[in-house]
Amino acid sequence: MPPAAHQPIGQSPVPGLAAIIMAAGLGKRMKSKRVKVLHAVAGRPMVLYALDLADRLAGAGTVVVVGHQGEQVKAVIDARGAACAPAVARGSAKREKGLTAHVGRGAPSTPSILLAEQKQQLGTGHAVMQARGAFLRARGAPASAYVILNGDTPLLREETLRALIRLHESRRATVTILTALLDDPAGYGRVVRRGVEGPVLRIVEDRDATATEAAIREINVGTYVVDGAFLFEALDKLEPRNAQREYYLTDIVGLAVERGMTVAAMVAPSAEESLGINTRRQLATAEQVIRQEICARWMEAGVTLRDPATTWIDHDVEIGQDTVLYPNVTLEGHTTIGEDCVIHAQTRLTNSELGAHVVVQDGCVVKDARLEEGVTIGPFAHLRPGTVLRKGAKVGNFVEVKKTELGEGSKANHLTYLGDARIGRGVNIGAGTITCNYDGVHKYETVIEDDVFVGSDSQLIAPVTVGRGAMIAAGSTVTQDVPPDALAVARALQVNRPGWAARRRVLMAGNSSKTPSLKRTGKATKRSKG
Ligand code: UD1
Ligand code: CA
Repeated sequence: MPPAAHQPIGQSPVPGLAAIIMAAGLGKRMKSKRVKVLHAVAGRPMVLYALDLADRLAGAGTVVVVGHQGEQVKAVIDARGAACAPAVARGSAKREKGLTAHVGRGAPSTPSILLAEQKQQLGTGHAVMQARGAFLRARGAPASAYVILNGDTPLLREETLRALIRLHESRRATVTILTALLDDPAGYGRVVRRGVEGPVLRIVEDRDATATEAAIREINVGTYVVDGAFLFEALDKLEPRNAQREYYLTDIVGLAVERGMTVAAMVAPSAEESLGINTRRQLATAEQVIRQEICARWMEAGVTLRDPATTWIDHDVEIGQDTVLYPNVTLEGHTTIGEDCVIHAQTRLTNSELGAHVVVQDGCVVKDARLEEGVTIGPFAHLRPGTVLRKGAKVGNFVEVKKTELGEGSKANHLTYLGDARIGRGVNIGAGTITCNYDGVHKYETVIEDDVFVGSDSQLIAPVTVGRGAMIAAGSTVTQDVPPDALAVARALQVNRPGWAARRRVLMAGNSSKTPSLKRTGKATKRSKG
């Protein structure tokens, strides 16, 4: 056993331990155009769950083996680096509220992620083989031990993996595998032991299993700790003699046993975490489990969920204390919500930032927007990317906002479109106001300075600037800049014709008879000239 592996295993990455994540398969059973490991669970591509674990466990770096849609997988991994990984992986004791100090890529102590390409998907054993070159190039030597993870097992917990590593170490094993006892083991590799509870002999894949083997309920989770000196040498010995004509990683277990080396096995504490996602149904199961955990975590952190069953909170969302979420709220992506907010029903917030004391009324859709402290929106508001609502601003029903800043305390309460606008503080946007930002070819900006009053049903034809303290008369179509403190009236002047309506009523009544005629009624000559 290499010396590094004897160091105590706490909450930090294990020195000398490297991680390999297998993520090259297409995942045919998903029946998808997209590679399996990019399918999201709680808003997060599956492969990132494995990557989080690897980050927290492997002190000697991680290789992700990519193949199908490798560029897209790489892009997701890079984006995670940029956005920073969550500091605490799934299943860890506690995620602190308002956590900002993330341990992610680029943090000085974290080893980098390397990518290896598996050009042809010839099996899990072949996938792991591809990692060797990457490790050698990066470090000049193999690691003392490897933890190998399937890219499609997002429910796996850090505690379980740490226990597996401890077992590997205490048994001084060559290979240590994680197993689970399932009522329905179909589809998984079965763990063949000597006798019923004797030592592990080998793993047999579902498709290669005899009827007796298929009846075994102990399955291979697809998580392994393997001695560094043994791993790649054993992989070289693999042969694709099986139903799928693939190089099975699982065959290294039998190989180690044949050579009299120690193979250890640990049964996962819950069958749930062993779930490998091969189908959409399994994907939905995983989603449900993770969502329940996320809801439980936020309730424990002091957030009220009025109906956890219909509250959807993505993995990377942050929520402040005493915030209340009503039924059917969806919080997506990197959304952060401050303390004491109320988010009413049927609302979806995506990649948005809400300060404290924000109220979102029912039925709002908010994406890539920032709402400062004390903002109120909705019901039925649509905030599109680039919306910034400053402190205490209000956006009411049937208002759409895009790439617009609404200043402190300003209001757009009813039936309005604000696009490409910079709006100062203390502004009142009347009902039905429209910034006409698009001429069919280009987009232009509308500037509304502080303390402006825009009357109802006005159109502001951009580019246009309304100076500080000016007023726009209701129903105006503003095509020219308005100087500060001026009144702009841009509509036809009103003309009143006395008695006209009454005369028309009489005329219409006459016309409804069989032979209507202006002359016969004699009223036409009396019509006003107006
Ligand atoms: C695998 C195990 C099986 C175990 C199950 C647990 C093997 C041979 N079988 O089966 O014993 O019970 O996981 O979920 O390992 N991959 C590659 N390149 C390849 C093939 C696969 O990178 O050439 C990746 C996939 O992207 C996936 C992972 O390896 O992330 C597992 O592959 P998958 O085809 O799902 O294996 P299973 O048939 O589920
Ligand atoms: Ca699988």
